[in-house]
This record gives sequence, C-alpha cells and structure tokens, in this order.
Amino acid sequence: MKKIIVANWKMYLTLRESVALAKKFTDISSQFTDVQLVLCPSFIALEEVAKVIKRTKIKLGAQDVEPEKRGAFIGEVGLDDLGALGVQYVLVGHSERRRLFGETDATVNRKLRAVLASGMRPILCVGEPLEVRRKGMEMVRKYVGKQIRMGLKQVKAHDLKRIVIAYEPVWAIGTNRADTPEDAQEVHNAIRQEISISKIPILYGGSVNAKNATKFLQTPGIGGLLIGRASTAAKEFEKIVAVI
Ligand code: PGA
Repeated sequence: MKKIIVANWKMYLTLRESVALAKKFTDISSQFTDVQLVLCPSFIALEEVAKVIKRTKIKLGAQDVEPEKRGAFIGEVGLDDLGALGVQYVLVGHSERRRLFGETDATVNRKLRAVLASGMRPILCVGEPLEVRRKGMEMVRKYVGKQIRMGLKQVKAHDLKRIVIAYEPVWAIGTNRADTPEDAQEVHNAIRQEISISKIPILYGGSVNAKNATKFLQTPGIGGLLIGRASTAAKEFEKIVAVI
C-alpha cells in the first residue's frame, strides 16, 4: 500500500500563500511516485489550490464538513460544494474540532457517514488527551478504541475500505513533542483490532517533522502521516516525503 501523506494547513495560510505553496508541492510530488499526497487547505483556498494541482497526482482534501445537505446552517460548507471542487478526502474529528468546536463522537460519526455517502474518503482522526496518556497505555487503547467504535458506528462493512484513520495524540499536536514510534505502533495495533479489515491505512500525526518522520514511516503498520505545521514549509515537507 502506498504511504499517504496528508498536509493539514489548518488556518496557517492565506489564500495567496496557499496557492504559492501548492505550486511548490506540485514540484515535490513530481519527484516522488511512491506516495499519495493529500493537501488540505482552508475552505476558501480549495478552489484555487484545486486548479494548481489539477494535472498532478496530488489529491485535494477538506479540513471539515457539514453533514447536512442544505439548509439553515450558517457558516457551514456542504459536501455538494466540496465534491464540485474536486475534493476527495475529508478530515473528520480532528482534535481541534473536538476540543475547540465541541464536536462529539456522535457528530464525528454523522460527518463520517455523510462523507462516505458522497463517495469521498473520510480521514477519521482519533487520539487521547494528556490526562489519559498519563494513566498509561491501557487507558489510551481503551480511549482510542471507543473513539473508533463510536466514529464508525453504523458504517457498512463494504464502506470500511474507503476510510483512512489518523492516530494523533492530542498532547503531541503542535507541541514539538511527537509520540514515540513504539507507542504510536501500539495504539495503531489496538485500532486494527477494533476494525474488521486489515487494509485501512492508519496514519500517525502530531509534531511530525523532517527529523522524526523516518522513524514513523519505517515502523510497520504506520501507513503514512498527517502533518500540520511542518507541511506549511515546502523544504521541510520535501525532506519528509523524500524519506519514503
Ligand atoms: P502538527 O499538527 O503536525 O502541527 O502537530 C498535526 C495535526 O494537527 O494534524
């Protein structure tokens, strides 16, 4: 299975900066064939970034979605528009959405099922906060296992193969304190036990950079990376992809 590297630009970049960086990403992607790159710019940058990556192998991803089809949902963006822009992946349940915007496991599940129904691929983000990690790995496995079960509730078996999972310990996101590949692998194994099929790619995310990417990518069972801050610097990102 090709490694999947997702660049999560969050709200780090303006529209103009996103377009400029996407151009650099097209150069990077032309050098590497053995990797699936997915760019997740802000909603406002999707259309212009889509134009830049059109004739490349890079796929477009959205950072979030409104699961309702249409209606009085002020400020939201729906799947019809994402689809029309060429979006193929949608992040659901990122810890910032859960923590800062109050998304529950039930919300995450609604979004995930809506994304599947639209034909796109959801990237289900899970991960424990620091207070859980402090209680030990068994608690972490339980916590993440529950997020997986709730997130995948009522998902039909034949849809499972379109899902990507990203394990991102909350305390490792944006802190420069990445998890160890060994502990990440332990949680990845626990996630695999929760799901019935083996082919689902499970990514690691949380303070990935050019220095630590190799270790994660060489760890069996880690199917790729979800990268925030380090994906907003072309040179750093290029070094990460070069590891593959
Ligand atoms: P980070 O973010 O790489 O900046 O830690 C990862 C993420 O939030 O997906």
